[in-house]
Amino acid sequence: MKKTVFNTRILSAEAVKEAADWLKAGELVAFPTETVYGLGANALDAAAVAKIFAAKGRPADNPLIVHVANPAAAEPLARLGPLACQLMDTFWPGPLTLVLPRQKLVPDIVSAGLPTLALRMPRHPLALALLNECGLPLAAPSANLSGRPSPTLPGHVFEDLAGQIALILDGGPVEIGLESTVLDLSGKQPVLLRPGAVTRSQLQPFCGEILLPDDRHQERPAAPGMKYSHYAPKAQVLLVKGADDLRQEWQKNQKEGCSPLFILSQESLEKLPELPGEQVLLAWPAHNMEFFANKLFSCFRQADKLGAKAIIVETVPETGLGRAIMNRLRKAGGIV
Ligand code: TXA
Ligand code: MG
Repeated sequence: MKKTVFNTRILSAEAVKEAADWLKAGELVAFPTETVYGLGANALDAAAVAKIFAAKGRPADNPLIVHVANPAAAEPLARLGPLACQLMDTFWPGPLTLVLPRQKLVPDIVSAGLPTLALRMPRHPLALALLNECGLPLAAPSANLSGRPSPTLPGHVFEDLAGQIALILDGGPVEIGLESTVLDLSGKQPVLLRPGAVTRSQLQPFCGEILLPDDRHQERPAAPGMKYSHYAPKAQVLLVKGADDLRQEWQKNQKEGCSPLFILSQESLEKLPELPGEQVLLAWPAHNMEFFANKLFSCFRQADKLGAKAIIVETVPETGLGRAIMNRLRKAGGIV
């Protein structure tokens, strides 16, 4: 296939119609969602979807999420049971992706050949405007090169994909900064494949017991994408609990001649006044997990730009959004 080189432009809301035209013509467009920026293609056009895999360098066995403009648009794409409908009513539009039995209308390539399909309705106004304007379901993974942190700013998409796509719709910084919660409803019991801003405790009242991928005891293979480390910056990510351990890890690094960067709470920073300001990538305000989540991926990108060898990151409790943050930190640290 001959590769087109695009003069990639970053344009805002006025370009929604142009973006929709590119999508209808089988090309790729990056657009903001409330979670991270997505790289969209017409989900019903296998050749267009193949361009997503090529542009990202994404392994062919990692399935994509299809984005819809409203719950009704999900109906021809997957079999929606009563639980799915209830969750859609409650959490859509929003950062909840549901994995459901796939209908024939959706080409195999979208789901990497799996019998299921991941679906979500985003709540970002530009994403919704684009979905409505093109009238198509959009397959859209995060708009980063495979293995790079997900993009939370249009500039991140440009860094990774300039020349490969015609257009990046500019919605400014995203609202959440971590990818959606992925809940698999295709088996006997719901499985939380990826934690996100819709939390397990928000889902529990509707779902009863929610399994984690490890609980499934090989009932089925885990989501193919889960074996890939999506979030790895080039630096080594060291996870540490509390100010005392931060200091110890810092001293260890210094002895080895390394000046690590830090991501820590403001509380811990106050206990480490000797820490040079230029080594602090992020200090999040006490208990403000939303702030931490929102900045994490751009910190990873910044660390790469600075050529950091190591990032020492303070861990957070695994409750609420903390579960999603720790999931991404472990992946970045190569711990899962
Ligand atoms: O917030 C988000 O979900 C963003 C925005 C753009 O919507 N999208 C996103 O897509 O994060 P991506 O491709 O980077 O991550 C999709 C995840 C992968 O881990 C993939 O393996 C899993 O969802 N997935 C997709 N379809 C699946 C399926 N049929 N069964 C199991 N897992 C699936
Ligand atoms: Mg991704």
